[in-house]
Amino acid sequence: SERTLVLIKPDGVKRGLIGDVISRVERKGLKVVAMDLRTLDAETAKAHYAEHSERPFFGELVEFITSGPLVAMVLEGPRAVEAFRALAGATDPVKSAPGTIRGDHALEIGENVVHGSDSPESAAREIKIFFPDRF
Ligand code: GTP
Ligand code: MG
Repeated sequence: SERTLVLIKPDGVKRGLIGDVISRVERKGLKVVAMDLRTLDAETAKAHYAEHSERPFFGELVEFITSGPLVAMVLEGPRAVEAFRALAGATDPVKSAPGTIRGDHALEIGENVVHGSDSPESAAREIKIFFPDRF
């Protein structure tokens, strides 16, 4: 079994998609083992997205992810990292398949509803940022 860090980003919360995302996660068989609604400060956002700090869109990314409440959760299950990335769909929601979270709900790359860790190593790092001392 494996853990992954998932965010329902501020666009997803604003649009009322918390239930839809959690419902897909549970239907798939992934288990929610931690969950919290919170607004990120810039420092936490920058730590979370550190790998993108040199990208031209980094400022926008931090501004967007701190723009309102998000839902952070830890999911657990067999190959949870890959399983949630498959549910989420491709990063660019124009290209993500219909039937995926992004494919069904988004059009703009900057507002693509969810985040999921991209590897077990990233998951461990991100879980420590969002839920220190919990695991
Ligand atoms: P996350 O699960 O959010 O990490 O998405 P990802 O792993 O599918 O993509 P990646 O880590 O490469 O990029 C992180 C986030 O940056 C994406 O989810 C997008 O919201 C945002 N992003 C990526 N490319 C662009 C871009 O060209 N412009 C803007 N505005 N945002 C981008
Ligand atoms: Mg990523």
